[in-house]
Amino acid sequence: MKRDKVVMKRDKVVMKSVEAGVKSPEAGIKSKMKHNIINKLKLKKMSTSKEQGFDTLKIHAGYKPSEHQGSIQVPIYQTTAFEVGSPERAERLLRFEEFGLLYTRIGNPTQAALEQRIAALDGGAAAVAVASGMAAVSYAILNAGENGRVIAAGQIYGGTYDAYRKLYPSLGVKIDIVDDINDLDAVRKLIQPDTRAIFVESINNPVNVIADIEAIAGLAHENGLPLIVDNTLATPYLWNPIRNGADVVVYSATKALSGHGSIIGGIIVDAGKFNWLAGRHPHFEKKVLTLGDKTVVEVFPDFPFTARARSYYLNLLGAALSPFDAYLILQGVETLSERLKKQSESAQAIAEYLSKHPKVAWVSYPTLPGSKYGALAEKYLPKGAGGVFSFGFKGTQEEIYRFLNAVKVFSYHANLGDARSLIINSPKTTHHELTEDEKLRTGVPPETIRLSVGLEDVNDLIADLEQAFNG
Ligand SMILES: Cc1ncc(COP(=O)(O)O)c(C=O)c1O
Repeated sequence: MKRDKVVMKRDKVVMKSVEAGVKSPEAGIKSKMKHNIINKLKLKKMSTSKEQGFDTLKIHAGYKPSEHQGSIQVPIYQTTAFEVGSPERAERLLRFEEFGLLYTRIGNPTQAALEQRIAALDGGAAAVAVASGMAAVSYAILNAGENGRVIAAGQIYGGTYDAYRKLYPSLGVKIDIVDDINDLDAVRKLIQPDTRAIFVESINNPVNVIADIEAIAGLAHENGLPLIVDNTLATPYLWNPIRNGADVVVYSATKALSGHGSIIGGIIVDAGKFNWLAGRHPHFEKKVLTLGDKTVVEVFPDFPFTARARSYYLNLLGAALSPFDAYLILQGVETLSERLKKQSESAQAIAEYLSKHPKVAWVSYPTLPGSKYGALAEKYLPKGAGGVFSFGFKGTQEEIYRFLNAVKVFSYHANLGDARSLIINSPKTTHHELTEDEKLRTGVPPETIRLSVGLEDVNDLIADLEQAFNG
């Protein structure tokens, strides 16, 4: 069947189920109908690179105006709940005998358009949108690691590192931190009988460690483990870790996915390929009363990870993304390639300028000549290395503050991937939770200054840094 027809038919059935009131976007495509649609979705994925490019998908995937009164933009379904029609139907919905929308905490058509769009951009089978990047990271780690252990990269966003120690163990998931995630021997040594997953950032925040996803996924799969990748800095435009073997990808949609600095959001994408029944994930093998006494894998064989994340963590811990914020993220995704392309080019120019500056000790941009991660960047980031990187300021803490106070175009705040250029001293802010020893071990020494390059004129950005160095 021609791809267009396949996609049209799939979208029609998905949107029909949304119109009919599906319980969740995944639930809307279940059993025989779901299998047909999923096969078609796979067809779509296989043919995507030849027939529809990233830039077409970022505008159109997951949404069809004709299914929404012709509305060109994805409508904001600003509603708490959906009419179910009768108590009998409510019962059928709750028993998964019929599929329909019920309640925005677990599914909403605006969220669904976002979920399907990001899943399409990443080559995943399904996605679940949540209220923040931290919710996406936490739900993914907890969903994979329940009552077991997760091996996790130490070179990671500070909030995630904090949760490794403060939160996940008290919720039943022990974290084994590995300082260098590309040291496969060190990772292998940490694998224990109750290890359930490996977690890493593709490009790490803030010092651009590039994870060798293919090698780490290979090791994970040899040992029956899924690989979960936080792809926030790269975005699906620069890198699709699923195509390199990752099983789950998470995003802070707060950052470059939206790019406008107006929302907090997160997304979990399920590659749909991992076998959760191979013995390492007993919680995926349990029969669930609310799933008609079946396992989540039996009911949702094509995307059990996001189905479970939705029905357990999103449903019960409840960090739901508002439909309005889902809409705002969709606005940002429409310009993702254009932004990331320009930000990568500007970041490269700024990194080159900094690398020659006498007041700069080091620059972490991976496509600079001589970077430790040059070969990995060449392999995984042919479109550019993104707009975020760090440099080491040569000087005292007082001089660092003087420099940070002197910038005028860069603004000092704790976001990244924004249209505005941002600057921050990570060891004192985004990574303040780490001890001094941990900061050194994970590559965030006291002199670290992180830049998130925005969309301004790159000459103005360089001039701004220059006047601040001289100030
Ligand atoms: C790589 C990465 N993952 C996750 C998060 C958490 O995202 P959010 O602030 O949307 O909760 C951040 C935040 O900076 C981040 O940089």
